Amino acid sequence: MTELIPAPRAVAGPDHTGVPLAPDTTLWAAPGTETTERWLRATLGAALGLPLRPGPRDAPGGLRLLLDDSLDPEAYRLTADGERGVEIRGGGPAGVFWGAQTLRQLLGPEAFRRAPLRPGRTPVVPGGTVEDAPRFRWRGMMLDVARHFMPKDGVLRYLDLMAAHKLNVLHFHLTDDQGWRVEIKRHPRLTEAGSWRARTKWGHRASPLWDDTPHGGFYTQDDIREIVAYAAERHITVVPEIDVPGHSQAAIAAYPELGNNDVVDTASLTVWDTWGVSENVLAPTDTTLRFYEGVFEELLDLFPSRFIHVGGDECPKTQWRASPVAQARIRELGLADEDELQSWFIRHFDSWLTERGRRLIGWDEILEGGLAEGAAVSSWRGYAGGVAAARAGHDVVMCPEQQVYLDHRQDAGEDEPVPIGFVRTLEDVYRFEPVPAELMPEEAVHVLGTQANVWTEVMENQGRVDYQVFPRLAAFAEVAWSALPAPGERDFAGFEQRLTAHYRRLDALGVAYRRPGGPLPWQRRPGILGRPIDGPPPRQ
Ligand code: ACM
Repeated sequence: MTELIPAPRAVAGPDHTGVPLAPDTTLWAAPGTETTERWLRATLGAALGLPLRPGPRDAPGGLRLLLDDSLDPEAYRLTADGERGVEIRGGGPAGVFWGAQTLRQLLGPEAFRRAPLRPGRTPVVPGGTVEDAPRFRWRGMMLDVARHFMPKDGVLRYLDLMAAHKLNVLHFHLTDDQGWRVEIKRHPRLTEAGSWRARTKWGHRASPLWDDTPHGGFYTQDDIREIVAYAAERHITVVPEIDVPGHSQAAIAAYPELGNNDVVDTASLTVWDTWGVSENVLAPTDTTLRFYEGVFEELLDLFPSRFIHVGGDECPKTQWRASPVAQARIRELGLADEDELQSWFIRHFDSWLTERGRRLIGWDEILEGGLAEGAAVSSWRGYAGGVAAARAGHDVVMCPEQQVYLDHRQDAGEDEPVPIGFVRTLEDVYRFEPVPAELMPEEAVHVLGTQANVWTEVMENQGRVDYQVFPRLAAFAEVAWSALPAPGERDFAGFEQRLTAHYRRLDALGVAYRRPGGPLPWQRRPGILGRPIDGPPPRQ
């Protein structure tokens, strides 16, 4: 009971005999707990070779799932007692599901496989009680599938990995300069043309190397429905991001009229093949607004999430400054400058989404030039955006790049394969504090939670993603879920000890995580690809 990740609030025991799970062990599930009932049979049952047949509530030694409204919706209490069986009570369906994730960890690494190693073996749930509840309601991971496309199976696998770590928001970065990844029926060229690029920069920005293999891919609307439903079964919300008005070169390459074609020949643009921030941003015209309303209309049909992410980051204003069309719009709207033009653009979609019962969320640049009322902010350029937004009464998700950008290197060594950004070790992530110290309690309530961001410029396949994400996502999950003390007082040595057990789970799941000793030979990269490009920032 002591090797759980993320760490639970309280553990008592072992104070009873354990509960053996055998082929005749039954499962009783109260109304409202069906997602967990299905997950237990499909996942735990498959791993351990147990049918977990339905049985009566009071079956001796059985599994029982029920709701208990004295608990918070995501809280649970798991009790294992050799005489009474295993009971998981959750404040709501999600709480029961998180309790089942704990049950899986209690059963050892074999519970993380897809088929039993030793059919006929009887695993035992150790006797005792786990009382648990999350610290934050937004415990997220952002996955960039634009820079490198992750095929659908990989996304489903990541949803499983998130669920195993009690994370509940997938921020799905679906569009960028380098690719458009979601089918939009009324604008088919977004994926026909916008999802493919001819070649790809190999390494980060300064690399002189190229991979000349065309790269691309996209999710059909049915793929998206499947991803969203698979996530919902795991109590994970998928928050889609369509990045506007910057990071839009792939869309402009597909539909040149979306770009500033009074200053650049947008008809000759291609989906971008290098990294960085493209100057080719959307034109602030009615054509663009109507086009993206169409995009968001289809998106709202696909994603039930209350929050819809509109990006809003890194929008260079060079073209708007030069464009007579953009300048005329600034005058016509009585705006002060290009920052206010961006703000006007974001506010348009804020009203549009609000009218449809949704809420806009965007990167912290949406604060510049005035933040739309009701909008929420993903604070990525450090803490400042989150502080300003929370003080102004806006909800915030904290994801400062200095702490929780998982594309950043995990070690300073020459063997580290990814040359982006700062060195951010496992311990740095473990000591990340999502709530800015300067917020007063009444301001801090606006911190919905936190997410780790996985940008994939130099992660061209699942193995690379796994290496960057794990084991740091396990540390992050504990930050997001557990009631940890202040960063300096956190027991990192104790976490590392529990991680020893967690590595066996990740091994069973087939995760190509970074080993404590550094990359395996295939995980290294020679030459320029292994050297840091950006200097480290001052440490917090
Ligand atoms: C970002 O990293 N541009 C949000």
